[in-house]
Amino acid sequence: MKNSISRRKFVTSTLGAGTGVLIIPNISGLTNQKSDKVIKPMIITSHTNDTGRNAMEAGWEILKAGGTAVDAVEKAANIIEVDPEDTSVGYGGLPNEHGVVQLDSSFMDGKTYSAGAVACLENIKTPSSVAKLVMQRTDHVLLVGAGALEFAKAWGFREENLLTEKARKIWLRWKEELSPSDDWGVPEHLQNIRKNEAYWKDFPDIEHHYGTTNVLAIDINGDIAGCTTTSGMSFKLNGRVGDSPIIGAGLYVDNEVGAAGATGRGEDVIKSCASYYMLLKMKEGRTPQQACEDALHMIIDRYKKVNPGFYPGEKFVAINKYGELGCATMIGKSNPQMSVRTESGYSKYEGVVAYPGKP
Ligand code: GLY
Repeated sequence: MKNSISRRKFVTSTLGAGTGVLIIPNISGLTNQKSDKVIKPMIITSHTNDTGRNAMEAGWEILKAGGTAVDAVEKAANIIEVDPEDTSVGYGGLPNEHGVVQLDSSFMDGKTYSAGAVACLENIKTPSSVAKLVMQRTDHVLLVGAGALEFAKAWGFREENLLTEKARKIWLRWKEELSPSDDWGVPEHLQNIRKNEAYWKDFPDIEHHYGTTNVLAIDINGDIAGCTTTSGMSFKLNGRVGDSPIIGAGLYVDNEVGAAGATGRGEDVIKSCASYYMLLKMKEGRTPQQACEDALHMIIDRYKKVNPGFYPGEKFVAINKYGELGCATMIGKSNPQMSVRTESGYSKYEGVVAYPGKP
């Protein structure tokens, strides 16, 4: 992105103007040469719980101090990843079919056109930081499994057990109820009696989800970065990789346009290159909101040909370089939201359901 003035030049010229004081640049006051639209530093995440809010505040502190979008995104993503209560991302994420937590994450820097990702990474709480190092310290884009772990350990990451008690119990519950014709679970003759035990009361519903979070940011220089991080589809086949570490699917960032990220059924997102599609749409002049909806319609247009009535559950978020926002889900009873932190404070942006009323 070509700013009318770089941050360094701004400070220098301010000092040179003879004011006698160091004036901190107005962080909302940078303009884009081509359109004169104001560049607004900001950070967003698809997570809307308290942890998402804390993540936004921490990321904003970095942006406010003049830090980079890359650093702000990493800080925010790490906060979400280490939350043990969150069963969709990082530590505490639901495991694969064998009870092993395998994490996927991608990172992209819209200024340098650099990207890095890890898939099926085990035992490391913050896969986004490993993805960032793949981006910054290698000429590769994607490391998987044992190689990703080896790389993380080389950079000093500590191996830890990522399976929390909560996640383990949910996984065991899933395993016990997976099939009525195997030997897992309560003995058949006691099933009705023992179904009231505390074990089932703690977890009345088996959580089964695709989870994931996206973090996107614009810094004071108008540079844009993004990260997508997840424990992936719960109880997935060992070795399954979702969309989150696939550049163009779960994440795409381009300083000249903006950034987009996906959560939900990764298989659809991979096949549709959804995040890249959203960037292309924004480049054509669509707003981030329109781009999110366009991508969802594009997926359904394809499925219509083979299975009309199939509406997979995806949620897309997008920002453009001017700080305009977009968020949309395929289906759902209430409008999707995302967390936003700008100099005006924390807020939740409400998007739309693309196919309301669909199952
Ligand atoms: N969107 C996350 C996954 O499918 O793994």
